[in-house]
Amino acid sequence: MSSSNFPCNASRLSASYGSENFKNMCEKYKDIISTLPKLEPSYPGYESYQYQGFWYPIQFLQVILYMQENFRARPSDIFLCSAMKTGTTWLKALTFSIMTRHIFHDDDSTNNPLLNKVPHDCLPFLEVDFISNPKFVDAELPLLSTHVPYSHLPPSILESNCKIIYICREPKDTLVSLWKFSQKVFDQDVSVANILTLEHQVKWFCEGKSFYGPYWNHVLGYWEASHDVERHDKVLFLKYEDLLKDTLYYVKKLAEFMERPFSMEEETRGVPEEIIARCNFKSLSNLEVNKTGLHRPETQRVQNSIFFRKGEIGDWKNYLTKDMAKEIDDITMEKFQS
Ligand code: A3P
Repeated sequence: MSSSNFPCNASRLSASYGSENFKNMCEKYKDIISTLPKLEPSYPGYESYQYQGFWYPIQFLQVILYMQENFRARPSDIFLCSAMKTGTTWLKALTFSIMTRHIFHDDDSTNNPLLNKVPHDCLPFLEVDFISNPKFVDAELPLLSTHVPYSHLPPSILESNCKIIYICREPKDTLVSLWKFSQKVFDQDVSVANILTLEHQVKWFCEGKSFYGPYWNHVLGYWEASHDVERHDKVLFLKYEDLLKDTLYYVKKLAEFMERPFSMEEETRGVPEEIIARCNFKSLSNLEVNKTGLHRPETQRVQNSIFFRKGEIGDWKNYLTKDMAKEIDDITMEKFQS
């Protein structure tokens, strides 16, 4: 992408941003974190702490604290926000395609990043890239992603009145997706076998102790922002299920919200439908890169394929007992009804 595609001048990194500064600040953050409730047991290497009501793996929490002070949003930035396993991969693919449709062409596999990279590698994920890949974060594309709850977004995102797109998903399907994902990420580690049981994952989820949990509070933060008189036109709140049932309607809505509406001519040519076809579960999961490639090979070494499982509504019925489902539904009723 050349700089003329998305003109920008301000850096997203503060004047004091730098790896030395981050190292120094980490000492301070370690002191803060050492006073926080710690989840026992935790995944090795992903020890989880509760900060102002939400549970975070320690390395993300350090970056989040650093971002609060050092991330500078550009007013034209659009943030893709979500809890884990709620349709982030799909949302990234759709919004990236909408945003870059005048630059990349569908069948040119040498040119279109979506055909060569998992959607997560097409745009920055703040909790990781802010430290490990600042150039990527500071690039011109006005799309960035995070799992951070609304109340912990870097203040400059709200001060700059940036747009936010949030996607949520039915809690039971989210939980099952998270459980299956965690099993794949940690499957080599016998020491976490007891954490990876469905019973334990349901317990954590219901107690709000899964990463970025409580899930319901995560959803509510963005829901309330999307209904705030001052912010409602800046927050687009989507549900995975709605997106799956009426993808065309929501893709057009996304394009309008992103201020890249489809022209009449594009609609006649079927551009929205082409984007939907390229980003649907079958197309993305069948790409060679998503079947055999690695996400962040230098650091996390996660298989791209773990981001694609079934992509369906209601898969929880195949795993959760009646009691488990009831426990989750009761919390959902209690949290979302008031
Ligand atoms: P399942 O585990 O229920 O199949 P995230 O992207 O936030 O990590 O969410 C992952 C969930 O989205 C997984 O759900 C995954 O299969 C599903 N998913 C991934 N790509 C998708 C797509 N293009 N369309 C619909 N669902 C998709």
